Amino acid sequence: MSESRIALVTGANKGIGYEIAAGLAARGFSVGVGARDDGRRDAAVAKLRAGGADAFGVPLDVTDDESVRGAAALIETERGRLDVLVNNAAITGGWHQAPCETDLAIVREVVETNVLGVMRVTDAMLPLLRRSPSGRIVNMSSEVGSLTRQIDPAIDSGPASMAYAPSKSFLNAITIQYAKALRDSGIAVNAVNPGFVATDLNGHRGHLTPEQGAAVAIRLATQPDGWPTGGFFEDAGVVPW
Ligand SMILES: NC(=O)c1ccc[n+]([C@@H]2O[C@H](COP(=O)([O-])OP(=O)(O)OC[C@H]3O[C@@H](n4cnc5c(N)ncnc54)[C@H](OP(=O)(O)O)[C@@H]3O)[C@@H](O)[C@H]2O)c1
Repeated sequence: MSESRIALVTGANKGIGYEIAAGLAARGFSVGVGARDDGRRDAAVAKLRAGGADAFGVPLDVTDDESVRGAAALIETERGRLDVLVNNAAITGGWHQAPCETDLAIVREVVETNVLGVMRVTDAMLPLLRRSPSGRIVNMSSEVGSLTRQIDPAIDSGPASMAYAPSKSFLNAITIQYAKALRDSGIAVNAVNPGFVATDLNGHRGHLTPEQGAAVAIRLATQPDGWPTGGFFEDAGVVPW
């Protein structure tokens, strides 16, 4: 079994996920770069290694059972356990998602990736996380997943969103279910809001850099024992559900 702490970040080939991988590697983790495209994954691993990171590629499409099983088998064979899982991969399904105008196929696709993808990956990785002395699961949620902020007229909660925003509320809900189920296992499970980050996801309109957006996930992934679990956090503190 590996001496270093092992992390897996899904959707780590670019954006916030790439910076989470870089940040964890800088803190001494051996980091699995979960990505579905061979070329993009290899390029990210090469770039991380060029910066001194202990990074390895993990072929992973979070919507595909076989791919997820293969990812768990690869980590089991090569590293023997997992200490940190960051469920970062997500899609928006586009930005015009008004009630009565949203194609159900888009809702299904977004939920398949952003929610069922997280369940699929988490369930497959849990046997490996249970071998860690202090397992951590971080789910990349969003401010738009906060029902409290969505309904507050004083807060700009973005455009109508029948797929992406509810998928993040759903993700928050399953975060709590995992946290409850794993409370006595030593594995902490939390959701995080990275803030509005300039990435491909939003046409680079965000005001934070991917490195800044990665900070809260890295903090929760590396929190010492005595940790919170079942929470929703951003840089400034707790996010209301
Ligand atoms: N950017 C923001 O302002 C913001 C705000 C709040 C929350 N977030 C959340 O932060 C996380 C990262 O977002 P980002 O802004 O960095 O987005 P991004 O640049 O679009 O990156 C998304 C990543 O997810 C991967 N991905 C998508 N579907 C996948 C699948 N089926 N299997 C495996 N990987 C898949 C993408 O891979 P490909 O390159 O192959 O497409 C890419 O690596 C997401 O959960 C997002 O919802 C972002």
